[in-house]
Parts: sequence; structure tokens; C-alpha cells
Amino acid sequence: MPKQNYAITVAGGGSTFTPGIALMLLEEMDRFPIRKITFYDNDADRQEIVAKACEIYFKENAPEVEFGYTTDPAVAFTDIDFVLAHIRVGKYAMRELDEKIPLKYGVLGQETCGPGGIAYGMRSIGGVLEILDYMETYSPDAWMLNYSNPAAIVAEATRRLRPDSKILNICDMPIDLEEKMAHMVGLKSRKEMQVGYYGLNHFGWWHKIYDSQGNDLMPEIKEHMAKNGFADAISDTNQHVDESWKHTFQKARDVYAVDPETIPNTYLKYYLFPDYVVRESNPEYTRANEVMEGREKMVFGACKEVIEKGTAADCGFEADAHATYIVDLARAIAENTMERFLLIVPNEGALENFDSTAMVEIPCIVGSRGYEKICQGAIPQFQKGLMEQQVSVEKLTVEAWIEGSYQKLWQALTLSRTIPSASIAKNILDDLIQANKDYWPVLS
Ligand code: NAD
Ligand code: LMR
Repeated sequence: MPKQNYAITVAGGGSTFTPGIALMLLEEMDRFPIRKITFYDNDADRQEIVAKACEIYFKENAPEVEFGYTTDPAVAFTDIDFVLAHIRVGKYAMRELDEKIPLKYGVLGQETCGPGGIAYGMRSIGGVLEILDYMETYSPDAWMLNYSNPAAIVAEATRRLRPDSKILNICDMPIDLEEKMAHMVGLKSRKEMQVGYYGLNHFGWWHKIYDSQGNDLMPEIKEHMAKNGFADAISDTNQHVDESWKHTFQKARDVYAVDPETIPNTYLKYYLFPDYVVRESNPEYTRANEVMEGREKMVFGACKEVIEKGTAADCGFEADAHATYIVDLARAIAENTMERFLLIVPNEGALENFDSTAMVEIPCIVGSRGYEKICQGAIPQFQKGLMEQQVSVEKLTVEAWIEGSYQKLWQALTLSRTIPSASIAKNILDDLIQANKDYWPVLS
């Protein structure tokens, strides 16, 4: 792709993250010039609130950028270079059920982990594939940067069903944690570190961390982890700041203690300490409630205020500094920067003693021809055992979606470390089927 002014479509235009990402794109225009931004969503009313506010902001701050929003795929996906996809199929109403149904049975309820993640995956696969297909129909040369969750299941579905598509699946959790680790050792940015990492999405470990002179940073980071997990480090994200996240960063100390040779992703707490998570949960008030009353209200409140006042001046809109990795990734493709990212990609030997067909999260070099994987060698028995079980959950979920198989989805739930027995798995599954009848394929 030659250097030019790029055209971007944001899929999930009504997302709580959209204003922050749109403003971030404007702030990064000197690195990544944009001629057109289009928001696309399948919920016209929700999107309109975010889009009208952003339209006002764009008119005031970047009139040279053509801005539009639509629910028409032909309009949204024609003549574009990149799709940034962050959809939530079923929105917060369904996230709340994903979290609360398992808790009825004493099993943790989480957005991407355990039964909640499986339920969300069964909803997301179709939505993400649909957007990918629109992009390929209307702009066959474009790339999709996908950070819609649950990324592990979505990525496995794209591997199975669209293996040749131009999609990169990426997660921002490792980015936030790397920012925290850089801060622990006194570096300004994660970009001053070089890391080795292996795992599945929301299920991985750092096994090497060096600074740009090649000094080993692991000993110092380990000291912090042993004392306080990620809790004593800050980062520039305003995404993971609520009370529940503070507990998660603190709990990483106990997750770290299980394997002090590596630094864990915070999401491992759900798999290694599910009993603790259930004890700490309030079945009447889960993370979905926290976000609906927090981020969602705040973002939509700010958007409505901009629309009412007719100006975005002093509106409190903020660019999402943390999301600049999206621009880094788009530039890597557009301008062949060959930068390193953790991506979710087919293993194919990068972890030599692990299923070659698994979608693994590992460092990759990204350029205009896509990515090249950086081999991480053989993984230890502990991680291998956990990952084999979890990757089977993810594969069975995707197979259940493709085949409409009740049996496979029951097996997926039964295999999840978060669920103690096949009978509890069945009870949860039957409730989830009822709750998701507008979204899941029919299972038999
Ligand atoms: P949200 O509910 O505020 O926004 C999602 C939007 O997607 C909604 O406006 C909804 O109408 C729209 N949508 C749903 N299905 C669609 C479809 N089939 N086609 C088009 N639009 C559709 O959700 P949010 O909290 O802003 O999160 C958005 C997504 O971003 C989620 O998947 C979330 O998990 C993900 N996320 C990913 C990362 C990451 O780095 N991987 C970080 C944070 C959030
Ligand atoms: C969110 O809604 O912020 C999620 O994507 C992650 C979380 O905070 O639970």
C-alpha cells in the first residue's frame, strides 16, 4: 500500500470505545494521515448518539477529514483501507446475562473467560465474519484489525472459516500490562522493552523481557510481582481503572506465585482461582453493571451533551492514548514498518510442543505482507497442560457453532477449568441457550 491518506471504517460505531479511538486517530494524523472515517453499526439509534457527537467534534477540529456514519454495509465498506472492528454482539444486556447465569450455579461469570466467554463467542463469530465478508466484498484490498472479544474464539473461527482473509486479531491487555511492567522498572514506555510471550488470548505468560540494551528485566519485574502483582504500577490507560480491576491487578501476585518463572496475564486468575472469583462476586451486580453505570453512562452522557450544545468544546472527550497500538498496527501494514506486536495467529510450530492448529498469542513482526511469527520454542509442562485444555474449549465452541452441535458445546463447557462438573455444565448450557436464542445457531 503506498503512503497516502487512508480511509478507515470503525465497525461497532456505537461502541463506548469509539469516541476515544476516533479522537486518537485524529491526534495521530501526522504519523497516519486519514482522508475518511466512517462509523458502521447495526444499531442505528445507538450509533447515532456517538456519531453525531463525533461529527460535531470532527467539524470543529478536523474539517479536512470526511466523516460519515451508516448502517448500510455498501456505504460503510466501499473504498476503504482498514476496518477497525470492536463490536459487542448482544451489547451489555447480553454481557450481563453471560455473567449472571453461571453465578446462579456457583460458577464464575466473566466477559471472555469460562461459560460467559463461550456464550459471547457463540454470538460474536457470526457478527465478525459478516463484517469481514462485507470488507472483502466492497474493498478486497483492505485489512481488518479486529479487537472484538472474545478474541480467542473469534480468531479460531476466522482460522477455520476464513483462513485467507486479511484480518489481524489483537488484544490490548498485554499492552496495558507491558506498560505497567515498563513503569515498574523505570522505563518510559513498553516500546523500550523486547518481550518473549506465549499462550492463548487472555491466557498467556511473559518468559523473557529485555530493555533496548539487552539487559534482563525479569528479576526486577518478578520482585514487584511477588510483592504486589501489577498493583503498584501505573499505565496510561483509563480503561482498567475501576475497583474490580484494582483487585485483578493485586490478585496477579497469587497467579504469579503458581509459576514464578513467568509473568502471567491477569485473566489467568479466572482459571487458577475460580473459587476465589466466585466468592468475590456479587450475583446481583457484576462487571456489566459496573460498566453500564460507569463507562457507558459517561460516554453516552458526554455525547448527548455535545449534541445538545452543538459544540464539542469543553466536552470532556479524550483521545484514548492507550489505543495508539491500533495506529502502530495499521502503519505496520500500510508502511511496512516491520514492528513487533503480540498477535493471535495459527501456531504452526511457533510453540514447538503445542498443537500446530491452535490459535496462539505470540510476538510477530508485521509488515505490508502481513505477519511473520517469532518462534518461542517449547513451552513448560504446566502451561502446556493448561493451554491444551483451554484450546480444546475454544475449538469445541467453534465446532459447535459451525455444526450446530449441542454435544460439542456441552463438551466445551465441561472442559473449562471454571466449571466443576458435566452436570453443572449442562444446567448452565440449557439456561444460556434460552437466553441466547436470538443470537446462537440452533443446536441439536
Ligand atoms: P458496546 O456494546 O458499547 O459497543 C459495541 C457496538 O457493537 C454496539 O454499538 C453494537 O450495536 C455494535 N454491534 C453489535 N453487533 C454488531 C454487528 N453484528 N455489526 C455491527 N455492529 C454491531 O461495547 P464496548 O464495551 O464498547 O466493547 C466493544 C468491543 O470491544 C467488545 O467486543 C469488547 O470486548 C471489545 N474490547 C476489546 C478490547 C481488546 O483489546 N481486545 C479491549 C476493550 C474492549
Ligand atoms: C470492558 O468492558 O472494559 C472489557 O472489555 C474489559 C472489562 O473491563 O471487563
